[in-house]
Amino acid sequence: MNFIIKSGQLEKLVSGCIILPFFSNLKLSPSSISINKLTNNRIKKVLKETRFSGKPGDTIYLQEDVNESCKGILLIGLGDFNSLSRGTYQKAIGSAFDNLKKLGITEITMVSNDFDNPNFETEWVIQTISRVFIEKSYIYSHTKNISTKDYSLTRVHIIGESDSKTQIREATIRGKAIGEGSNLARHLGNLPPNICTPTFLANKAKILNRQKNISVKVLARKEMETLGMGSLLSVANGSYEPPQFIIIKYSGGRKSQKPVVLVGKGITFDTGGISLKPSGGMDEMKYDMCGAGSVIGTMHAIAKMRLPINVVALVPASENMPGGGATRPSDVVTSMSGKTIEILNTDAEGRLVLCDALTYAKRFKPTAVVDVATLTGACVVALGNVATGLFSNNEELASQLELAGNESWDRVWRMPTWSDYHEQLESNFADMANIGGRGAGSVTAACFLEKFANFPWAHLDIAGTAWISGKNKGATGRPVPLLCQFLMSKSGW
Ligand code: BES
Ligand code: MN
Ligand code: ZN
Repeated sequence: MNFIIKSGQLEKLVSGCIILPFFSNLKLSPSSISINKLTNNRIKKVLKETRFSGKPGDTIYLQEDVNESCKGILLIGLGDFNSLSRGTYQKAIGSAFDNLKKLGITEITMVSNDFDNPNFETEWVIQTISRVFIEKSYIYSHTKNISTKDYSLTRVHIIGESDSKTQIREATIRGKAIGEGSNLARHLGNLPPNICTPTFLANKAKILNRQKNISVKVLARKEMETLGMGSLLSVANGSYEPPQFIIIKYSGGRKSQKPVVLVGKGITFDTGGISLKPSGGMDEMKYDMCGAGSVIGTMHAIAKMRLPINVVALVPASENMPGGGATRPSDVVTSMSGKTIEILNTDAEGRLVLCDALTYAKRFKPTAVVDVATLTGACVVALGNVATGLFSNNEELASQLELAGNESWDRVWRMPTWSDYHEQLESNFADMANIGGRGAGSVTAACFLEKFANFPWAHLDIAGTAWISGKNKGATGRPVPLLCQFLMSKSGW
């Protein structure tokens, strides 16, 4: 996908198909007025004749020779101007793409500042367009005999003011980077677990090495033993596939600048272990590495956009299988921190791999640590697939993540980690139990992690947001947009 940025007279510059925004309660946008004039009132006539009301996501396509190189007009409904949300805008751009694909249109023109809404700065709009188009272009094909070359949107002309051309160019680069990062996360999530093993994830991470400012290191079982990662290793015990501890460093900031550490849960398949899960829907547990996928995707994205910041990503990767060496309910293990854990349910394995990664994070003297995990079914019950669960021991970090979520429309909702909940994790035989009983499952899971976090820390439970079930089953790439936006804001962008 090529973005071509131009400035000048719209009439002369449009090519392919022109995309025009349309609000249900407004007169035509400035560019729509110009195009309407050029086409002898075609737009106004069509609006009168049809019932196109401009509802969000509705589109109408007019075949029309606007000039020699522009043969069509696509109006996209955005609903009421005053209640336009970032989410509505994103969805409308997505539905524009779906229509272009259906029509087989591969070249389009968009106008960067076609509506004057203070919440929709040009840069945000362009970044969003480029991100959504890249995300929409993703098709899973790795294990299917299908051609992915059937359609591609190849040229996107963006017309903007001449003094904002650089900003527009940069916004397309950022959007593209985020879209690619999100697609990488989706790809890793969608791959079957016989391909996407811990070793496979480690090799994928190593490929990031080719990018500027990135270095990757992977610890094998032996090294984890030496470090005393008894909690993480107890999860890997029931599996033939060896666990991997992946460390990706991105150094885009000053040497002295302390890094943000991202930690991604990398359970490449979660059977539940000896506390075996029911078989119905167990296939979806291949997505239990989406936390890992999203931090790997985010590292790809920030390296692509050359973000001036230091970030370390840690991925504790393992399977959770019920092999002969598997951990038993009632086993007590010693984590890297020295704290002992009574494992009452081997299906609560995410926290067991994450806690050792959190302890490992300390050596980087992080300004903040954000872990990302498909941690609990309870979070899906609480928030569905709309908001990611946010838990934090630090108000500033929590509000930065909330803000980044609203900006990228990859939203989070804050949940508590009060000491009252911590009580649920008490054990008669160890410093803590790995489950907290019936109520507040996503909260007690977060409380467990909090015990290992002696730095500004936040936990994102993405069990409900990392993939969709049903007919369009697949990984969503969330929360790559959120993490990228968070890091962009942190770096001062
Ligand atoms: N990976 C699961 C969480 C999960 C479940 C994500 C369903 C998405 C959909 C996690 O390892 C798990 O099994 N959690 C248990 C915890 C329980 C044993 C305390 C759960 O949520 O049931
Ligand atoms: Mn589990
Ligand atoms: Zn799991």
